[in-house]
Amino acid sequence: MKPNHNPSIANSVSVAVAKPLLLLLSLFTTVYLLITPGPTLLTSSLSPYHSLFLSLSSNSSASSHLRHLTRLPHLSSSDADSLAASYVLSSFPFPSHSTSYSVLLSFPLHRSLSLLSPSSPPFHFSLTQVPSPSDPSSSVFSLTVPTFHAYARTASVTAPLTYAYYGRVEDFQLLLSLGINVTGTVVLARYGMIYRGDIVKNAQDAGATGVLVYSDYEDYAKGEAFPAGPYLPETGVQVGSTFRAIGDPVTPGWSCRAEEEECERVDKEEVVRQGSMPAIPSLPVSGKDGEELHKAIGGQAAPDDWQGREEAPLYRLGPGPGVINLTYIGNETLRTIQNVFAVIEGREEPDRYVLLGNHRDAWTFGAVDPNSGTAALLELSERLYKLQKKGWKPRRTIILCNWDAEEYGLIGSTEWVEENREMLTSRAVAYLNVDSAVYGPGFYVSATPQIDPLLIEASKMVRDPDNSSQTLYDSWISSGSSPPIGRLGGGGSDFAAFVQHIGVPSIDMSFGEGYPVYHSIYDDYLWMEKFGDPMFHRHVAAASIWGLVALRLADDEILPFDYISYASELKSSAKVIQEEAAGCPISFSSLYKSIEDLKRAAVKIGKEKQALERKFLGLSLRKDQSKLRELNDRLMMAERAFTDRDGLSGREWYKHLIYGPSQNNDYGSKSYPGIDDAIDAAKKSNTTEAWRFVQHEIYRAARAVKQASLVLNGGLT
Ligand SMILES: *[C@@H]1O[C@H](CO)[C@@H](O)[C@H](O)[C@H]1NC(C)=O
Ligand SMILES: *[C@@H]1O[C@H](CO)[C@@H](O)[C@H](O)[C@H]1NC(C)=O
Ligand SMILES: *[C@@H]1O[C@H](CO)[C@@H](O)[C@H](O)[C@H]1NC(C)=O
Ligand SMILES: *[C@@H]1O[C@H](CO)[C@@H](O)[C@H](O)[C@H]1NC(C)=O
Ligand SMILES: *[C@@H]1O[C@H](CO)[C@@H](O)[C@H](O)[C@H]1NC(C)=O
Ligand SMILES: *[C@@H]1O[C@H](CO)[C@@H](O)[C@H](O)[C@H]1NC(C)=O
Repeated sequence: MKPNHNPSIANSVSVAVAKPLLLLLSLFTTVYLLITPGPTLLTSSLSPYHSLFLSLSSNSSASSHLRHLTRLPHLSSSDADSLAASYVLSSFPFPSHSTSYSVLLSFPLHRSLSLLSPSSPPFHFSLTQVPSPSDPSSSVFSLTVPTFHAYARTASVTAPLTYAYYGRVEDFQLLLSLGINVTGTVVLARYGMIYRGDIVKNAQDAGATGVLVYSDYEDYAKGEAFPAGPYLPETGVQVGSTFRAIGDPVTPGWSCRAEEEECERVDKEEVVRQGSMPAIPSLPVSGKDGEELHKAIGGQAAPDDWQGREEAPLYRLGPGPGVINLTYIGNETLRTIQNVFAVIEGREEPDRYVLLGNHRDAWTFGAVDPNSGTAALLELSERLYKLQKKGWKPRRTIILCNWDAEEYGLIGSTEWVEENREMLTSRAVAYLNVDSAVYGPGFYVSATPQIDPLLIEASKMVRDPDNSSQTLYDSWISSGSSPPIGRLGGGGSDFAAFVQHIGVPSIDMSFGEGYPVYHSIYDDYLWMEKFGDPMFHRHVAAASIWGLVALRLADDEILPFDYISYASELKSSAKVIQEEAAGCPISFSSLYKSIEDLKRAAVKIGKEKQALERKFLGLSLRKDQSKLRELNDRLMMAERAFTDRDGLSGREWYKHLIYGPSQNNDYGSKSYPGIDDAIDAAKKSNTTEAWRFVQHEIYRAARAVKQASLVLNGGLT
């Protein structure tokens, strides 16, 4: 899963600039991986093992793993996916095992699309991506799944076309205001602004009977097409899921292991009724087909910003006169998926877990999404193995996770979190996610805020893979004075269950953001080698910062969590949401007060940490381990306090009251989703009751923040 925005990228430019720098980089090898900490940079310097970890990086190992993993397309639960699972299982140099679940996946049985015209015979779209013969992957292209939307409704519809831009709620509102009612039509929408499942849902809510989502040239093909350039070829299609919840659709909140004989499952039609699975058919189509479909739409011209590239025909809104026959037959069926794990047991605190995760299943070859992350994970595991050979053993247990069926709806990770909910709740220190390690240049990270300071410190220890004369930190802040750190309210990848269901401190990171061949057959090894990461230095840098953050969390005696940054983040996002509700009959004072309490508690525990560190200084023996443990538990558990048993109103699976997806776009990262949804609803209805409900949601968030400060304080009232 992952990319949220249209990747009208400057990628090719950056790649061109990067090449000579990468060559330069090759002249030195390990020297600058260990940089001297600047005077203002560090509160703690690296331990010898952590320095060693950075110096052991191997771009050839990363590239060789990626080559293996991307030989065949490996859709979740396919034979090739099992082969890839075995490869990961045997490549982990630590005790490893796999855990299988039986879940509902979706496959295309029949797709057809034809344009009907009263004057001429129907035009049938081929719905086929054409590979370049010069691309080695083209020899096995026929093994890729036909282009489809997973969980799309099986149906055949024949109706006139309308055009709805990016298919956002506001796009349908604008259409209505222009007098266009999409009821009974097939909507043509563009990829690139919101999650495709929400495009289909918005169209469905507006009355459409079917949806076609295409990749406009303007968004995905701004330059030379692959393999000459990095952009999406004209027949390229973005495949993907349209499921709007997460986890196995028919075991919401629990899991079903493959070996279990009997499991409770809900009826699929119930999932459709709740709006998590589409009730109308849809198909993804190429840029070329999108343009063809536009030609069949008449009526008033679409607004200027809804238009395409210069050569494109004038986009009109419809409905009709073009009539489309969209026919889709899918097979929703129970399949076995396989998560793979490696465990490095902790020496002092084996029952505290630092988890690193990435998924393995791909829509096609998955060179970027997700196996650049898998390659980084395997390379990282080899470095840890070398540390172990030199005598290192982590203080806490490190668990490397390789998920399956992420593409269908974060299914592998979610089933595992649901199955292990109580154990993880009491033992998981942090979850560090890398979906795709490399989309292109630039370091991007999102985190729960207590990890911000650690991330910043770690980024000062790793070289920028695109400029040997600076650190990752330097390039990260180049756009401003402080590093931009996103938050984890969206549903883009496997961190979701960890953060939003059980409240585990988490991060999610990558090099680059979007890329034009996302979820198409062109996401293959050649694309990565030519455009994504020509010398695999970005892979290695991703593994370095991922591993370094993990090592600090696993080895530091006192967990490097800082809740002062959490409190200030809570305050600034409260201000944003308060502005949204300016002039409304509600008060945020309870929330601000609890945030002040949290800040005080964060300062207090910070002082306790320092006092303990001073006391332990030079004292390697006879430390009061139970005191340490008690302090660490407070730091670990404070994040759990933001979760609430009742969950978000109407979406009870989401327990976190600070970070959760917004209602209309699963990719958005909102804070205080409960308050936000309530304000949205109250603004529409403007009833006393609705505003009282907003106030209730504010109190509820305030109580959760208060719980977090009580946990940090570590005493009973
Ligand atoms: C690894 O990096 C070196 C330069 O540091 C480069 O010469 C080599 O080609 C890279 N290997 C791969 C597989 O890209
Ligand atoms: C759109 O058309 C349908 C059926 O023709 C009608 O039921 C519906 O009320 C219309 N919607 C709006 C907003 O006018
Ligand atoms: C639409 O296409 C399907 C599949 O090709 C076909 O079975 C069906 O008869 C067509 N419907 C119409 C109304 O043309
Ligand atoms: C649907 O998928 C299952 C396997 O999961 C397969 O056994 C079955 O034959 C498929 N149905 C059709 C109609 O192809
Ligand atoms: C590389 O980093 C140095 C030091 O920060 C900076 O001066 C230079 O402009 C950077 N080069 C590029 C191409 O970004
Ligand atoms: C909402 O209702 C109140 C009183 O019931 C009224 O004063 C106010 O103008 C309304 N606001 C909007 C935006 O309609």
